[in-house]
Amino acid sequence: MVARKTDDRQRPPAETLYFEELEALRRTDKAPKPPGWRLSLRAVETFILGGDGRPAKIVCARSLIERAMVTLATSRALLLIGEPGTAKSLLSELLAAAICGESTLTIQGGAALTEDQIKYGWNYALLVSEGPTPRALVPAPLHRAMSGGKIARFEEITRCPAEVQDGLLSILSDRVMAIPELGDEAMVFAAEGFNLIATANTRDRGVNDMSAALKRRFNFETVFPIRDADEEMALVKREAEKLLLRSGVPAPPEDDVLEVLVSCFRELRSGVDGSGVAIERLTSAMSTAEAVSVAHAIGVRGHFLRGDRGRPEDIVECLAGAAAKDNPEDLAKLRRYLEQRAGARKGDAWRALHAARHLLTV
Ligand SMILES: Nc1ncnc2c1ncn2[C@@H]1O[C@H](COP(=O)(O)OP(=O)(O)O)[C@@H](O)[C@H]1O
Ligand SMILES: [Mg+2]
Repeated sequence: MVARKTDDRQRPPAETLYFEELEALRRTDKAPKPPGWRLSLRAVETFILGGDGRPAKIVCARSLIERAMVTLATSRALLLIGEPGTAKSLLSELLAAAICGESTLTIQGGAALTEDQIKYGWNYALLVSEGPTPRALVPAPLHRAMSGGKIARFEEITRCPAEVQDGLLSILSDRVMAIPELGDEAMVFAAEGFNLIATANTRDRGVNDMSAALKRRFNFETVFPIRDADEEMALVKREAEKLLLRSGVPAPPEDDVLEVLVSCFRELRSGVDGSGVAIERLTSAMSTAEAVSVAHAIGVRGHFLRGDRGRPEDIVECLAGAAAKDNPEDLAKLRRYLEQRAGARKGDAWRALHAARHLLTV
């Protein structure tokens, strides 16, 4: 694990970003640890859910974190399922960073994913000159996780071809990966600490398409959007503030602007407006992650375009690109929301939002 104090990477991995916090937890961690783990379950939980004055890195039920950790300490793999933008990837990154100190053994699922990208490939120059030797083998994330006793992450697992998914079966049940090119006996046995966290979006090709055999090797955990409005507001503010600082913007948008933004997202997601009236839900996922990125964009617009902290009309400018991605009808719904629902609300920020509705053109 490499600690870097000044880091110009746009997004350092969690083990770098929270290096000092993880080290401090390690030093004081007296609770028992599962074999191969760097921290106890209690310390992992503190890392993710905060405590001692530190805010939570993930807003979710404690029981979700507990079940996720318990799964990872058994021989079952963990599958996090949910709508896009509910922090599934972030949760898997934080768990991996805390449990094994490395969150970058990551496979990105997709239609073109092949087995050599998850297990091992070859250095072609060496393969040609000396044939398939251990030296010529280039380990891919699963190989490295197994031999190092680490957590591998498999993002969007349901998007990858069935034969790649099938390739996981023997690894997850027998905890061994055969390397037939190196001989009949060549195998990588998983070291203690090895396990897999996969994520899947409910909007993508379904979890139902996974084979029954593979499903059986996972425990499924559903990750829900943040239930409490105040917690979501606080998170959006905190995250936007961090992102804005990295973008050179000193202060996040004012609270009333952020409140309007978070309310819009919550209402369009749930289909109920602030006074309990049913409204049309958008088909696009109005996730917390999208709300954070709109808050970020609002701050950037304000600071760099005008020298202020972002205004309600910036919300309108940003909403179309964030909210109406999947479906042109969403744009019409959004327009009706701004016209009717925002118009009925009290407060300067809502009034300004309503007044800016004409900016919603695509
Ligand atoms: N419950 C939550 N706790 C913390 N951050 C959240 C939560 N829900 C959404 N976010 C925001 O979403 C971002 C992560 O989204 P991501 O992990 O990519 O979602 P997913 O993988 O579910 O699509 C976080 O950086 C954070 O800004
Ligand atoms: Mg994700």
